[in-house]
Amino acid sequence: MHIAVLSQASIRLLQPRSGAVFVDCTFGAGGHSRLLLELIQPGGRLLALDQDERAVQAARQLAEQWPGAVTAAHGNFADLVDLAGEHGFPAVDGILFDLGFSSDQLEDPKRGFSFLHEGPLDMRMNRTQQLTAAQVVNELSARELAHLIRSLGEERWAARIAEFIAARRPLTTTLDLAEAVKAAMPRGAWPKGIHPATRTFQAIRMHVNDELGSLRRGLAGATQILNPGGRMAAISFHSLEDAEVKRFFIAESKDCLCPPQQPVCTCAHRASLRILTPKPLRPDEAEVTNNPRSRSARLRVAERL
Ligand SMILES: C[S@@+](CC[C@H](N)C(=O)[O-])C[C@H]1O[C@@H](n2cnc3c(N)ncnc32)[C@H](O)[C@@H]1O
Repeated sequence: MHIAVLSQASIRLLQPRSGAVFVDCTFGAGGHSRLLLELIQPGGRLLALDQDERAVQAARQLAEQWPGAVTAAHGNFADLVDLAGEHGFPAVDGILFDLGFSSDQLEDPKRGFSFLHEGPLDMRMNRTQQLTAAQVVNELSARELAHLIRSLGEERWAARIAEFIAARRPLTTTLDLAEAVKAAMPRGAWPKGIHPATRTFQAIRMHVNDELGSLRRGLAGATQILNPGGRMAAISFHSLEDAEVKRFFIAESKDCLCPPQQPVCTCAHRASLRILTPKPLRPDEAEVTNNPRSRSARLRVAERL
């Protein structure tokens, strides 16, 4: 069962008002959407988007309960401008990104996200896409795999892990992969507090779903469709994701992006956002105790100028 993370803070900062038009880019189990929906009534409308067909089924049920107020849509928020336009949301007052995967996805062994349960090496959030974790693990060269695990997993043992994976091919299950990672790392080097395969699984999942690329496009799309004064909130779960949101917000809050040594501006860039969270908001102790998955969450919010 997925528990919505940082829901109070994100909803408060998004300032939902009756009659407002919102997009939840990552519907999941709908925790944030349900809270938003109550607050934009009467008259508000919500586009509930997810790239996982199972989450969209749940969004369709919500749409049946709230006829006219909720529109469910299957798609990647990388295509936000087109999806929002197609579904009658060309300009909106608020947008939420609650990034990464849901507990429902993680806990279903068939989806292949978990190093704790035996399942196929899948890891696709959108099951209509071609690329799976099996292809990444079995078809990349050891060198490419090492690069991927180092850059997206920030894993020091990436080269050795990649060699061990390559030597054990073909790998077919999540546990084959978890075992290869464990074998590659000396016990004394296993990270404290997390499973040794956490970073490797994160890296492969991020690659399979092109998570950073989608995030970049999603944030740019959100800036395009937000009304002036409208707000976007992004909840991230690891440093690479948070760094991407931070970098985007900082760049879009500046009037010029020319290198500092350049005397005259030639970029013609104009600020489109005002940052509302100079430091990201984190969950409090009570939330982390109630929902340990929230411990790495960071919330950043910006307002459209
Ligand atoms: C952390 S969960 C969201 C949980 C939700 N806020 C709730 O309260 O239940 C993330 C969801 O976003 C979806 N997702 C991740 N990346 C996506 C993308 N690029 N486009 C659309 N949906 C995406 C996942 O399929 C997953 O269902």
